[in-house]
Amino acid sequence: MATSWVNSAERIGADLHLELTGPGGRRAALIRALREAVRSGRLAPGTRLPPYRSLAADLGVARNTVADAYAELVAEGWLTARQGSGTRVAERAEPLRPAARVPRKAPPRARGPRHDLTQGTPDASSFPRTAWLASYRRALQQAPNEVFGPGDPAGRIELREALTEYLARARGVRAEPGRIVICSGFAHALRLLFGGGVLRGPLAVEAYGLGFHREVLAAAGVRTVPLPLDEHGARVDRLGRERAVLLTPAHQFPTGGPLHAARRAAVIDWARARGGLVLEDDYDGEFRYDRKPVGAVQGLDPERVIHIGSVSKSLSPAVRLGWMVLPERYVDAVLAVKGDREAWASVLDQLSLADFVVSGTYDRHVRRMRQRYRGRRDRLVAALAEHAPHIEATGIAAGLHAVLRLPPGTETSAVKAAAWQGIALDGLAAFRHPDTDMTAGDGLVVGYATPSEHAYGRALEALCRALPPP
Ligand SMILES: Cc1ncc(COP(=O)(O)O)c(C=O)c1O
Repeated sequence: MATSWVNSAERIGADLHLELTGPGGRRAALIRALREAVRSGRLAPGTRLPPYRSLAADLGVARNTVADAYAELVAEGWLTARQGSGTRVAERAEPLRPAARVPRKAPPRARGPRHDLTQGTPDASSFPRTAWLASYRRALQQAPNEVFGPGDPAGRIELREALTEYLARARGVRAEPGRIVICSGFAHALRLLFGGGVLRGPLAVEAYGLGFHREVLAAAGVRTVPLPLDEHGARVDRLGRERAVLLTPAHQFPTGGPLHAARRAAVIDWARARGGLVLEDDYDGEFRYDRKPVGAVQGLDPERVIHIGSVSKSLSPAVRLGWMVLPERYVDAVLAVKGDREAWASVLDQLSLADFVVSGTYDRHVRRMRQRYRGRRDRLVAALAEHAPHIEATGIAAGLHAVLRLPPGTETSAVKAAAWQGIALDGLAAFRHPDTDMTAGDGLVVGYATPSEHAYGRALEALCRALPPP
């Protein structure tokens, strides 16, 4: 490796540190070093470069090596060579400026509050790294060569077969591989269905839901119409002329109850009578604690329901894998939107997930996490019983979050008090559809899955300190 401070060439005006490292011999290394110096601005446009001879002497390389390197960079446009004025840095060789940082909506977690009780994220410290790696390794070892070519937009057949069996067994979904289309999560499914023009609005949605999904729909030009909620879930009897309805039947998001059996039947009746469609967001259907399993609404009528799930709660939102189980008549249209080849969901990750499911690891992981989250839910309830018995926790039979019911008019100050305690969380109002006239009352939505195991106790103590007094 030749390293040199080039200073014999007074015309450069300043020392130029060039390091001749890396593959391909000295000529290639010099080209890289000079290109980098121009790109980074260390060699400003117009700067005259040292003559071959002096640079060659400084670097301890042959004169021809320097001549070749200059010629190459002239050909690439980084340098210019003119008779009588030597070799100079090209005027248009703009140095690379650091990208201006785009302000983020939310501050990155690491610099955020001390206790993260926002809903939405599973315990990141519990990601099954070793088991996932084992699945990935097996998948890679067994993959035929064609896996490394363009992917099938429907998704790998191995994954669709694994999901067919799993969803039938665990969620009561009536699927078959030909009706499953793999995507990168629930939000992506919405983008494909509505942004791609497979479905059109107006779309009925629950009066309380994830604002981000409403934004995705609005961006696709879809008008959403809020359906009020009561203790039995969405008031599907209020459905009117909408073409479709988006529901969270297993665990209403965020208020937490299951859709009542009579309403499940009623929404299917509505879809049959009106030619409507039900979009089922089964975001945390696996996490149920006290009550009997609530199967998917899709099982009632696979031709009237699009069942959508992802691994965002069960594994991690970083994996970016989800699935749609479609009525037969929508399969081709969705595939047409996806295009000729898979552009979103990594085929290797799909094969890993297929192995993860087929090997039983997914079931084991879900069981383990269910126990862990149930334990956290119990600790939350116990902490409230001890320190704030006047506050009721609702929506606790399932899922990864609970709603702490507050006296009317206290939600905003409770969210602020929580922030003072270093806690990040949302009030119910953050999820309310702007056009609804119903209110679900005052409440704090407490995501109890997010903190790591060792941090959870302190997060609960801080939460109890933030709650309004009786
Ligand atoms: C209501 C709801 N639906 C769906 C999802 C899953 O979204 P995605 O699969 O796009 O990560 C989430 C978040 O995990 C959610 O809160």
